[in-house]
Amino acid sequence: MRTRPLYSTKSGKAYLGDSLTIMSEMPDESVNLIVTSPPFPLTFQKKKPYETVSMDRYVGWFLAYAEHCKRLLREDGSFVIDIGGVWNKGTPTRSLYQYHLLIALCEQLGFSFAQDFYWYNPGALPAPAEWVNVRRIRVKCAVNLVWWLSKTPWPKANNKRVLKEYSPDMIRLIERGYRTKSRPSGHNITEKFQKNHGGAIPPNLLELGNNDSNGSYLKQCEAAGLPVHPARFPGRLPEFFIRLCTEPEDTVLDPFAGSNMTGEAAQRLGRRWVAIELSKDYLEGSKFRFQPGSPVGTPRLKILQGRSAQL
Ligand SMILES: C[S@@+](CC[C@H](N)C(=O)[O-])C[C@H]1O[C@@H](n2cnc3c(N)ncnc32)[C@H](O)[C@@H]1O
Repeated sequence: MRTRPLYSTKSGKAYLGDSLTIMSEMPDESVNLIVTSPPFPLTFQKKKPYETVSMDRYVGWFLAYAEHCKRLLREDGSFVIDIGGVWNKGTPTRSLYQYHLLIALCEQLGFSFAQDFYWYNPGALPAPAEWVNVRRIRVKCAVNLVWWLSKTPWPKANNKRVLKEYSPDMIRLIERGYRTKSRPSGHNITEKFQKNHGGAIPPNLLELGNNDSNGSYLKQCEAAGLPVHPARFPGRLPEFFIRLCTEPEDTVLDPFAGSNMTGEAAQRLGRRWVAIELSKDYLEGSKFRFQPGSPVGTPRLKILQGRSAQL
């Protein structure tokens, strides 16, 4: 790489600059997983505190970055994009841009659509005020779309690494047993359903508040006079996909790294990471995620630690 990292840690490197330029210096097939939350398009609602582009240019703009992402991914690699929705100007209707983007990524760049995920944030605030709070003709949006794309239809993945705790009802059923039967839906409930697999297979709805432990990052940014990143995603989001789609020592890239939550999650889970961010202030602040007192080294996702849930 010609560009030198702004900082590095025992398992990652953080680069300052436009990710189009930095990615062009990286070798083909050098990354196992890309997890990112790109800047969403500019809207009439709120000015973004960081670089982004207008809605009409958005898909074309993103495709240039996505082409590099595809080249950098290994054959069994995955590309996970957290992409928020936006409202159209002047009417209580939603933009279709996330779906246009998905179709362009698959039809123009040849990505496979592995699965759609929905990140539900119970703490999301009601907006826009005009439709939700004043006229009361819409409800609050509390779900972000997360597209899981892959270079081929067969990305590396293992859902045993993201098992959730069984619900109390399921534990009761496993302990007491239940009668085998056919459901009205046509599904046969056999004794296999009674086996304890060490946890439940999670759904594609991820319920994650946006308040998980950023404590030392926030405090140290404030003490250093650096801005706290305004659009951090919860660490458990990258953590879920890192566990699902990679193994220890694999490499995870975030080309729109912000406060480098992805790098921190990757390091905690024993993966290598590469982060790229355009804003010097945000990248400087992200260093604090790797300093003493930060959560690196403490897994946060509440998943099972049994044999089947090994990293
Ligand atoms: C939604 S934020 C990512 C937040 C991140 N997921 C976190 O948890 O902190 C998007 C980031 O992309 C950065 N960005 C915008 N254009 C970029 C570019 N061309 N290259 C690299 N970073 C860029 C912005 O500065 C912003 O910090």
